[in-house]
Amino acid sequence: MKPLIIFGNLASASTSRYYIQEEGIYEVIAFTVDAVKITAPKHEGLPVVAFEIIQKEFPPNEVNFLFPAGYQLNNPINTNIFRRTRFELIKSMGYGCINYVSRQAMVASNIELGENVLIYEGAIIQPFVKIGDNTIIRSGANIGHHVTIGSHSFIAAEVTIGGQSNIGEGVFIGLNSTISNSIQVADGSFVGANSFINKDTQISSKNIGIPAKIY
Ligand SMILES: CC(C)(COP(=O)(O)OP(=O)(O)OC[C@H]1O[C@@H](n2cnc3c(N)ncnc32)[C@H](O)[C@@H]1OP(=O)(O)O)[C@@H](O)C(=O)NCCC(=O)NCCS
Repeated sequence: MKPLIIFGNLASASTSRYYIQEEGIYEVIAFTVDAVKITAPKHEGLPVVAFEIIQKEFPPNEVNFLFPAGYQLNNPINTNIFRRTRFELIKSMGYGCINYVSRQAMVASNIELGENVLIYEGAIIQPFVKIGDNTIIRSGANIGHHVTIGSHSFIAAEVTIGGQSNIGEGVFIGLNSTISNSIQVADGSFVGANSFINKDTQISSKNIGIPAKIY
């Protein structure tokens, strides 16, 4: 199995490296970030390589990638835009991305996953769920049967999504929110923390509250 390069030198990179190391699935050999973001030559004992020279140092045929970047505190509404563009860049450079599915998640055997999907501990993924590329499901989320989640989406911890709902691409669903069953959450929707979505949302809308209102 190819060793792994993790994108980032902050909390999301450290957290995903911690889990991957604990579970002993892949050997992580380096972190990478843009040269301007490098603050030290090593992060947690591993080299931090400038993203601009990653192909030269670690060509795509020798390593796999994990791009675990999550919620951006300085850009909460548009968190998924950076996530999409950087994932697409990594793919265009020829890298394969792994999926990380925690051994402590409860995942039905017939779900379908894209690549660079991260599913953290305690998440429940029921049968017939389909999840696109580059989507993150944080700890304790409960994804009901026949739910689809598009690429480049971020589902925060303890989110509940009722059965047969469709979550679009680039959607952000904040901590502890609930999406009722058979709801269409449109591409680019933002759902604030602790909100309740009981109606379909509009593209790139900002939905907050119980029940959610559009802002
Ligand atoms: C929606 C959000 C981005 C707003 O953040 P903000 O721009 O800093 O806004 P503020 O905290 O200043 O709140 C503005 C107003 O909206 C209200 N508000 C903000 N978020 C709310 C929420 N989720 N539910 C209900 N009301 C909310 C505030 O109470 C405040 O009301 P006020 O003007 O009457 O005092 C933020 O609250 C949020 O939900 N972030 C997601 C956090 C998350 O899930 N992180 C995942 C980490 S893995």
